[in-house]
This record gives sequence, structure tokens and C-alpha cells, in this order.
Amino acid sequence: MKEFYCGKKILITGHTGFKGSWLTRILVNWGATVVGVSLPPDTAPNLFETLELAGKIKKNYFTDIRDFNKIKNIFEIEKPEIVFHLAAQPIVRDSYDDPLATFSTNIIGTANILQAIKEAGGVKSAVIITTDKVYENKEQDYPYKETDALGGYDPYSASKAAADIVTSSYIRSFFNPSDFGQKHDTLVAVARAGNVIGGGDWARDRLIPDMVRAIFERKESVIIRNPKAVRPWQHVLEPLGGYLLLGKKMFVGHGDLSGAWNFGPGEDGLVRVEELVEKGISILQQGVFEVAEDASKHEANLLKLDASKAGILLDWHPKWSLTQSLEKTFSWYEKFYGGKEDPSKFTDSQIAEYFGE
Ligand SMILES: NC(=O)c1ccc[n+]([C@@H]2O[C@H](COP(=O)([O-])OP(=O)(O)OC[C@H]3O[C@@H](n4cnc5c(N)ncnc54)[C@H](O)[C@@H]3O)[C@@H](O)[C@H]2O)c1
Repeated sequence: MKEFYCGKKILITGHTGFKGSWLTRILVNWGATVVGVSLPPDTAPNLFETLELAGKIKKNYFTDIRDFNKIKNIFEIEKPEIVFHLAAQPIVRDSYDDPLATFSTNIIGTANILQAIKEAGGVKSAVIITTDKVYENKEQDYPYKETDALGGYDPYSASKAAADIVTSSYIRSFFNPSDFGQKHDTLVAVARAGNVIGGGDWARDRLIPDMVRAIFERKESVIIRNPKAVRPWQHVLEPLGGYLLLGKKMFVGHGDLSGAWNFGPGEDGLVRVEELVEKGISILQQGVFEVAEDASKHEANLLKLDASKAGILLDWHPKWSLTQSLEKTFSWYEKFYGGKEDPSKFTDSQIAEYFGE
């Protein structure tokens, strides 16, 4: 992948976010020419500034994806060959506080990116990032497959399911693989991943950031909600590896890869919130937690993902167990808060280890 991405012109939306910063760093390390489109980072600290990514990419646009004219202009100026669309309002609880902003960013924002790809031309492959929460959750012990019905109880899940449907409409109407090479030259895929963990996330209302802030910054108990909720946890590099594989394989014309993909962890990654916190505390050898049950905002209790399609057709398989993923995550934060090493160095060493460089 390193050889393939070297010199490619990549546009990443959401490059100032947690996953986007890791993806930007990987692609910069591999010699790609990266352009980023996002809002400025909204947490302090944040991974984007920690890794000094603004100075490492070709162009940094702080532009709202809801502004179609500006987005189209960026595509026309930058002429990307590959697009990774990650920009979103991604927090379930924030979506209850501001459903309209969530719907407009996640649905209209995604439509704007797809329309800009269509109008500007020149993009050979695009990976649109949604989530495992797009599936109509039956709260059953059942791993969702790509062909299962979409839905969404909370505004975030509904907005992402809608973004997924918008993407499917663009694929069928404008980027249909059966017309590839005749009516258009673009292949588009949707990637649905589970809850990601990893160093450098400081978002509000997420478990690992809540843990590290409580343990390293405030030296207080970790407060957890929904202790019994089961989630598919995976290291951030796992789905990013999947997105990068899709981006590469569609670029070289694999029309059969257009469509939806699940990137979930192995069986061991499926644990309750309280188990994850207990494991984290035992790895860190510090911290205690308290449960604050909060039933005021509905969140799914059980969510499983079937990633066998990616295993069979992309040869994508989770590489790190849950324990390894937690060890990588907490060792990152320990080094960050220890303040002795350059964060770019320990981030790069995890990237090199994951991709076998
Ligand atoms: N973190 C997870 O566990 C997880 C799980 C499944 C899917 N996802 C999806 O992965 C993607 C990235 O998530 P993340 O965890 O890195 O989130 P994040 O909150 O760290 O980053 C979000 C990014 O989107 C940008 N953004 C938000 N609104 C925007 C707007 N109106 N215009 C332009 N940019 C805007 C932000 O500036 C930021 O760069 C999202 O699409 C999210 O839904 C995340």
C-alpha cells in the first residue's frame, strides 16, 4: 500500500478529527499528497495539532462541508484522485442536543461531497465512512451483514443511515460499476466500522477519552454510562487499513468492490463497556470507575458486526486482539502524558508496526 499511495493526490474530509488525523499521518508517511477539508480541531489537546499535521499536508482547508460551492471549488482546484470522506458530527449524545446540525452535516454534507466528486471529475475512487450504527438495531445477538436493513433510533444513527442511502443512490445513479469506464471513471464504496479506540482521541462523551481525562488529567474516578452495553471495539488502525485497501483496489478498477463494507473486530472485540474499562484499568495499573446510569438518552445496548465480506473479498482481517488494541491505546496516552517523547515518533512506530513496515 505504501508504494501505491506514494505520490497519489488524496483528499480527506475530517482530517482534523481522531480517525482523520491518523489517516492523514499514515498517508503523509507513505509520501501521498494530502489535502484536508474540515472544521478546525475542537478539543484541546487534539491529535491534529499534536502531530503538527497542518505543516505536513499540501493544503489545509477549514471549510464547512455543508457549503456546496466552496466544496466544489476545492475539488476543482485540488483535483484529487482518491477521496476519504470522514467529516461528520459523530457523537450520539450531541445528536440529541442538535439534531438539525447532525442531519445537515452528515446527510447534506455527504451529498455535497458526492456531488462535488461527480461535477469535478478526476476522482478514481472514493470511500465514504459511515458506521456500524446504520443498521436497524434489533437488540438481538445477531451480527449485521451489509445486506441488512438500515435504520436509526437516535439522530446520529439515523443521519448516518441516511448518508449511507444517499451514497447508495449516487453509486446506482451516477457511479454505477456497470457503466464504469464508459459513462464515468469513479468507483465509490461505503465503509461501516465499529467503535474505534486508539491514542489521540479527546472527543467528549467517548469512553477512552473520558477514561484518560479522568485518570491522567483530573486524577478522579472514571464515570461510565451504559455499563452493560456491548460494542464491537477495535483499534483505529484496523478500519483505516480497510479504507485504504478499498481506496487502492477501486483505484485500479475493481468495480465489484463498489458498495457497502463492514469492518468489525474479531469475537474478542465484542465486550461490555464495563469490561473494557476494567481491562483498561488493569493495563494502566491505575484508576477506578463508578457507574452513573443515565437512561435519559436512548443508546443501543447490543451491536455486532459481520465483517466476513471484507475477509473473503478484500483479504482484510483484524490484526490486533482487544488486549493488544488496549495496550497500544493506553501506552500512547501514557507516553503523551509522560511528556518525554515526541508524539509523532510513538504514533509512527504504531503505524509501522500495524502495517508491517
Ligand atoms: N470514532 C468512532 O468510534 C467511530 C465509529 C464508527 C464510525 N465513525 C465515523 O468515522 C468518522 C470520523 O470520526 P472521528 O471519530 O474521527 O470523529 P471526530 O469528531 O474526531 O472528527 C470529525 C471530523 O469531522 C469534521 N467536521 C465535523 N463537522 C464538519 C462540517 N460541518 N464541515 C467540515 N468538517 C466537519 C471535524 O472538523 C473533524 O475533522 C465519522 O464519519 C464517524 O461517524 C467513528
